[in-house]
Amino acid sequence: MSEAQSIQWYPGHMAKTKRKIEQDLKLVDAVAELVDARVPVSSRNPLLATLIENKPRIILLNKSDMADAAETTRWIAAYKQEGAWALAVDCKSGKGVNGFVPLVREALKDRIAQWEAKGMAGRAIRIMVVGIPNVGKSSLINKLTRGGKAEVEDRPGVTRQNRWFRVGKGMDLLDTPGVLWPKFEDPIAGERLAFTGAVRDDILDVEWLAMRLLELLAAEYPQALRQRYKFEELPQPLEGAALLELVGRKRGMLVSGGEVDTLRAATMLLDEFRAGKLGRITLEKAGR
Ligand code: G4P
Repeated sequence: MSEAQSIQWYPGHMAKTKRKIEQDLKLVDAVAELVDARVPVSSRNPLLATLIENKPRIILLNKSDMADAAETTRWIAAYKQEGAWALAVDCKSGKGVNGFVPLVREALKDRIAQWEAKGMAGRAIRIMVVGIPNVGKSSLINKLTRGGKAEVEDRPGVTRQNRWFRVGKGMDLLDTPGVLWPKFEDPIAGERLAFTGAVRDDILDVEWLAMRLLELLAAEYPQALRQRYKFEELPQPLEGAALLELVGRKRGMLVSGGEVDTLRAATMLLDEFRAGKLGRITLEKAGR
């Protein structure tokens, strides 16, 4: 479990983060928001859209290596319709990250033309990187700075807590001031974040979570279940407890008396899903 996952969210902390974001937005030209391509709705901070208001927004669908490629393409189109710029990336391998700088320049082309007209052609573009914990912000910054993490000197009005990183020539990135809380108050979002491992599961019922995930997968990605767990047929109705039982049985996870060790089966299922072993899966579809 990463350090970010163990953060506790207090109202005071959230209010402070919100204020800090409002202040720091004044220092940047655009915002790059990372979302998890498997759960693009639940992995967004609930307040961010209203905070950003008129700044150009670049949405990076990260972990696209684990998401359903066709769904990611639909999400990109949907974001474009909303007036945001969007790009699929895999910040672990770096795939797609090369598209980031050109996309930012495209998003800011009018602004850049104005700078040029004013003789400020060399002004660096300033981008704030935001996203909930574990969505891949450090990985993105690492890839964009090629691991060099060249920190930019303090500027007037910029406190030491801010972390600026230079991306080649002409672009500076501001790491998130404070940590953005996820949509954890919505139980469905909380559940989906837990499926991906973005929230702690020591506070959740692992068997219940696995059953919920199995129901979702049986409805949306039955083929993935058939292939991974060698199901000939899915039990009808598609009910979580029966599905979990079958997964455990197929893997020989039995306790004395021939009953299925459902806790072991649930833990294995969640681990395999989070490791991408069930294939590329998107749990939240654009327009639905
Ligand atoms: P954060 O700064 O937003 O908190 O996230 P961070 O970059 O630390 O990434 C969180 C985890 O997600 C890391 O895994 C990282 O490797 C993984 N990750 C980031 N981007 C991608 C991606 O595009 N695809 C995949 N598959 N994984 C990604 P970890 O297990 O915590 O660390 P590690 O074992 O990879 O070192």
